[in-house]
Amino acid sequence: MNLPPFKLERFFAKYEFHTEYLLCASDSESMSIADLLAMENGAAEKFQQVWLGYTESQGSPALRAEICKLYETIQPEDILVHTGAEEAIFLFMFAAFKEYDHIIVHSPGYQSLAEVARAAGCDVSPWPAREENGWSLDLDELRHLMRTNTKAIIINTPHNPTGYLMSRADYEAVHTFAQERKLLLFSDEVYRESEYDAATRLPAACDLGDHAISLGVTSKTYGLAGLRIGWVATKNRKIYEKMASLKDYTTICNSAPSEFLAEVAMRNRHKLAERNLGIIKDNLAIIDNLFARHPNLFSWVRPRAGTMAFPRLLKGDVEEFCDRLVKKAGVLLLPGSMYDDSRNHFRLGLGRKNLPQAIKKLEEFLST
Ligand SMILES: Cc1ncc(COP(=O)(O)O)c(C=O)c1O
Repeated sequence: MNLPPFKLERFFAKYEFHTEYLLCASDSESMSIADLLAMENGAAEKFQQVWLGYTESQGSPALRAEICKLYETIQPEDILVHTGAEEAIFLFMFAAFKEYDHIIVHSPGYQSLAEVARAAGCDVSPWPAREENGWSLDLDELRHLMRTNTKAIIINTPHNPTGYLMSRADYEAVHTFAQERKLLLFSDEVYRESEYDAATRLPAACDLGDHAISLGVTSKTYGLAGLRIGWVATKNRKIYEKMASLKDYTTICNSAPSEFLAEVAMRNRHKLAERNLGIIKDNLAIIDNLFARHPNLFSWVRPRAGTMAFPRLLKGDVEEFCDRLVKKAGVLLLPGSMYDDSRNHFRLGLGRKNLPQAIKKLEEFLST
């Protein structure tokens, strides 16, 4: 297995815990264990009694029952809990693919969605989202990318890094396309339930048939990345069993305290999502103003969901800009090169409470 460095994660490893303002984070503002437990009567006492033995490999029944409520047709036995979404991506790719398989991956995107498949021996064709089309994907391009050995389509909506939310019509067309050609559809839905207009929320892929696998996590919409609890939901028993069997070689089972806390979180997920969406919307208003004040310096497509946007710097080199910004002002933006983007984009995070202060610092930097 040959896995190159995960560019974005290596970048964060350098800055994340030494920089005052993370203006490019993908997760929502987090909270303490005490604050989470306070959301439910008796939870703090129950947490003290959590047994620290091995847990059920597929995830505790109580947690899986809570996760199921995200979906329409999914049963607890269709949920496989993992250590973060990242472990689930890793296991899915090795469970679903073999050498010389071909897959089509939404691009630009979270690196592991393509890289792990490459490490499993797949040929990967990027399916490009284009800024000039509001970061949408073109279904004609998808048709042209098909090969006789194509096994799967990988999509991520709401999307990291653009905040693009697929239209219902396109989403249904992608599902029909996959079903007609007997392809798997891996749907990274880790930003689901953070749509700015709830009416635009797409159905979860796993509810649309056993060709689909939905990926979820507590990290993003719910702001609880430190729990490291993610999952897949699927009615595809073959994929489920293969992933469950591979998990015996990675983590075997999940952390018992995290499973308990994730159960509390998922029971209160509407409150968590609402709190985080409030922060994102307040931050978006500030960003709208910032970009309106600097039309010659930045261009952007406003996101429709999630915690991120992918604006473009119109003057100068974005890598150099980000480097000077972090050194001089302690504000971290993520250059698009971490996504192999060469068009001067950068990732902007909208989920953190200290965004107003970060933007103040950014503007001071711009005026020097
Ligand atoms: C699209 C996408 N999928 C998966 C993940 C992995 O999530 P986690 O770090 O919680 O495992 C991320 C994290 O940034 C992501 O943005």
